[in-house]
Formats: sequence, structure tokens, C-alpha cells
Amino acid sequence: MSLSYADRHDVAVLGGGAIGLAVAWRARQRGLSVVLIDHGDLGRGASHVAAGMLAPVSEADPGERALLELGLRSARAWSAFAAELEDASGRPVGYRTTGTLVLARDRDEAEALDRELALRERLGLRVERLLPSAARRLEPALSPTLRAAFHAPDDHSVDPRRLTAALAVAAARAGVEFRVGQEVTAVDPGEGVEIEGRQVVAAERIVVACGAWSGTIPGVPAVPVRPVKGQTLRLRSGPGEPPLLERPVRYEGGYLVPRGDGSVILGATVEEQGFNTALTAGGLYELLRDASELVPGVLELEVTETLAGLRPGTPDNAPLLGELGGVLFATGHHRNGVLLTPVTAELVAAHLAGDAEIDASFAPGRFTHRAAA
Ligand code: GLY
Repeated sequence: MSLSYADRHDVAVLGGGAIGLAVAWRARQRGLSVVLIDHGDLGRGASHVAAGMLAPVSEADPGERALLELGLRSARAWSAFAAELEDASGRPVGYRTTGTLVLARDRDEAEALDRELALRERLGLRVERLLPSAARRLEPALSPTLRAAFHAPDDHSVDPRRLTAALAVAAARAGVEFRVGQEVTAVDPGEGVEIEGRQVVAAERIVVACGAWSGTIPGVPAVPVRPVKGQTLRLRSGPGEPPLLERPVRYEGGYLVPRGDGSVILGATVEEQGFNTALTAGGLYELLRDASELVPGVLELEVTETLAGLRPGTPDNAPLLGELGGVLFATGHHRNGVLLTPVTAELVAAHLAGDAEIDASFAPGRFTHRAAA
């Protein structure tokens, strides 16, 4: 790269989704000069498609302890993060503290739900078994055929589109500079970023927060981040009708996440299809079939949007947070990008400011080391 710099910053953040925006905001708050670069509009990647579940308890996996701890830490941070962000941006982020219901529709699923419940109790997570009748009192839209349920009172939700809009305002107000609609064509660690094949931005530190595309940037070390496709639908109650649900519900095959405005997000497929984001009849059919078995009224709703996004998957489902090859990764958040936004931004900004090291459990080089061991 020929280094004729257009401008100079302490930090260049690549990627304008929830993670990149929050890292940029937090880094700027620590006194660093920050430029954020995105090839498209801000918040148009996975953050645009995400349902916004903040659900480390209902999604806990016993094989992913470090990820669970990180998710719980971020979930605890969400309330203050949302309040601070709303204050800084003057915009609501749609943070709703409703808890989440986990549902079983038949005997096999009820047995699996019992195991899930016992596991969470062993881990000391707050969960409450509910009789189907009690679950239906909470959510009258649930099917009378519901077999079993538990409530995770600490699992909440946020509106990711409002989140990225608020983060963009807060970051701009804090003094983050933006280069939007500009493609990063090469990265020179420790030096800067080449944009559109010519213009160069000098930056001492480069943060890669490009989601599923994080492993594709010339000059950035290859990391095992892959796209994991998720198809979704957005639905809405008719004018004057009450919302279908008050709280998110999860079940085998998907989830429904209501917003406060009568709309509901129905997600999501989990598909290994590379960078293909085509919507398929089978994918949407299965989402609607599974949802309607537990919440029949879903079929009465108006469909307002169908779209697919690409989660940034990693081999162990945990994010890549830390240095590798002279750049700092804040990516690979897979199913948990929105949940992990506050803690990721805090950890990465503290690392950039030299205040704290990031837990080695999330080191981007961990897969290489394991292979070599
Ligand atoms: N966190 C939900 C999903 O990735 O589908």
C-alpha cells in the first residue's frame, strides 16, 4: 500500500453494525479519535435482520461456559447501557424487560424442556417452571395444546434497528467520524486502511467488526468466521387489535419476539449457505408452521417484511475478541451480537485505551493454537 494519508486517527473501526458502532462510541468516550468505515449504510447487516433477543438464560448451552458468562455479564449491563444510549442519542432503543417463555409442544419436547430446566437450575440461573395453564394466563395467544413451559425472567429484548440508529447518533455526537458507503480495499496493520483502492486513512489501531465478512478483507489475518444464514419474517397485528404477545417465546425451530408497537419478529432459520441470502419457500414455511403450532394467531397477522441475514459464525460459537496479526477483532458473535454489544464495546474500548486485557477465552487465534497443540 502506498501511504499517502488523507487523515489520521487513533482507531479505525471497520463495520457499522451494532458492534462496530458501539465500539466506536465507547472508544471515543475514552478520548481516542475514531473513524468508522462501512461499505454500505450503517446498521444494514445482521443488525438489521436480528430480532433483538437478550436471552443468555433461555439459550444457554452447557458446553459454552465462557460464552454463557459473557452473555450473562452483557445482559446485566443492558439496562444501564440502554439508558445511557437513549440519553446520549435522544432516541429510544426499544429495550423491554418482559422475560422470555420457553415452550414445548409435545411429549418429546416436554422431556427435553425438563432437561433444559434442570441444567439451568444447576447453573444457578433464574428459571420458573410453569403449568401450561399458567403460561397461557401470561400469554393468552398460546395454543391450548401447549405441553410444557418455563419462564426466564431475566431474558429480555431490544429493537436492533433502533439500537443502531441510536448508536450512530451517540457516536456522531461524541465525535466519531464516519466514512459511509466506502469500501475498504486493503488493511495495513499499524498503518491504516485503503479505501476504494486509493484513499488512505491512517490509524494506529484497526478494529475489525465486519460480521460475516470479517475474514474476507485483504490484509486482515484469515479468521474462521463464516456466514450462517437466518431467514425471518416481520408480522403485524391489524389496526386496533391487541398485540399477539407481550414477551418473546422460544421453541424448537424458532422464536417470536414482539415489539411494543404490535409488530412481531418471527425467526429464524440456521443455514450453512455461504453468502447466499435468498429467501426460500421451505424456510419461511417451516418458520410459520412451527410458530403456528404454538401460537396459532400468528397466521392471522399481516406480513410486512421477509428477509434473510448472515450471522458471523465461529467454530465454537463464541466471538473473536482481541488482537491477531496487528488488528483487533470484535466479530464472530454468531447468534448473540445484539446481546453482546455492551460487553464487547466495553472490553474492546478498555483494551484500546490500555486499561484492561480481554479474556483469552475469546482470543481470535485460539483455533490455530488448538490445531497446533
Ligand atoms: N439470536 C437469534 C438468532 O440468531 O437467530
